[in-house]
Amino acid sequence: MNLKDLFGNALLDYQNGNYTEDIITSTSISDEDVLPIPYLFRGFKDMPKLEKKALKLAKGSVLDVGCGAGNHSLYLQEKGFKVKAIDISKGAIEVAKQRGILRAEEKNILNETDTFDSILLLMNGTGIFQELSQVSKHLSHLKNLLKSNGQILIDSSDIKYMYEDEDGGFWQDMNANYYGELDYFLSYKDKKESPMKWLYLDFNTLSTACTSVGLKCELIFEGEHFDYLAKLS
Ligand SMILES: C[S@@+](CC[C@H](N)C(=O)[O-])C[C@H]1O[C@@H](n2cnc3c(N)ncnc32)[C@H](O)[C@@H]1O
Repeated sequence: MNLKDLFGNALLDYQNGNYTEDIITSTSISDEDVLPIPYLFRGFKDMPKLEKKALKLAKGSVLDVGCGAGNHSLYLQEKGFKVKAIDISKGAIEVAKQRGILRAEEKNILNETDTFDSILLLMNGTGIFQELSQVSKHLSHLKNLLKSNGQILIDSSDIKYMYEDEDGGFWQDMNANYYGELDYFLSYKDKKESPMKWLYLDFNTLSTACTSVGLKCELIFEGEHFDYLAKLS
């Protein structure tokens, strides 16, 4: 996948005081939506409860996977945690560094080799697994990055509701792939990013995948819109 890093460009524009417009997203099953860039620079008080809960559970050395502008890393670093932030977006890492994150690296999670007490994957953390067939590979790798008694804190949503029609029926094609596998489209300043795969996982499917790789999966928190936080250990 060859990304133009429009996401990173948008973060850099905001960071450098050149914020003029937001990111537009859409998916294979939903119309265009605005992703406000200020939300990608949220402080603790503007975070959803689920993220606050995850930050409160953090312990020891922390890896923030897909850190974006580095909101979660920044909060934890300020609290005295030893934090490493990684992202495949060059622009995101540049922003994270500019914001003061001491250890920020442009890196795919599958290339990470250090070990940690806590690994965070937040704002639909299962998204980076891309598709159901890739979940076990990512979970096994994440498990190998855990120190003893370490934990993975990850959020996602059960998006079954997106397939519900007005009379309460579901329209998804039973022969299709898992319903949380979406194509994700992003545009910024009239430029279109290459299409990406983005995975939403319901808790039971995540839990089954965890069992298959020897991770314990606990439901920590449920949000108001089918979203949840899980702790894997
Ligand atoms: C939805 S954003 C979340 C950003 C940030 N965690 C937040 O909550 O504001 C997902 C991030 O994951 C990054 N990402 C996607 N795939 C990745 C991978 N395989 N390894 C590391 N980062 C990845 C993207 O570049 C993007 O910055």
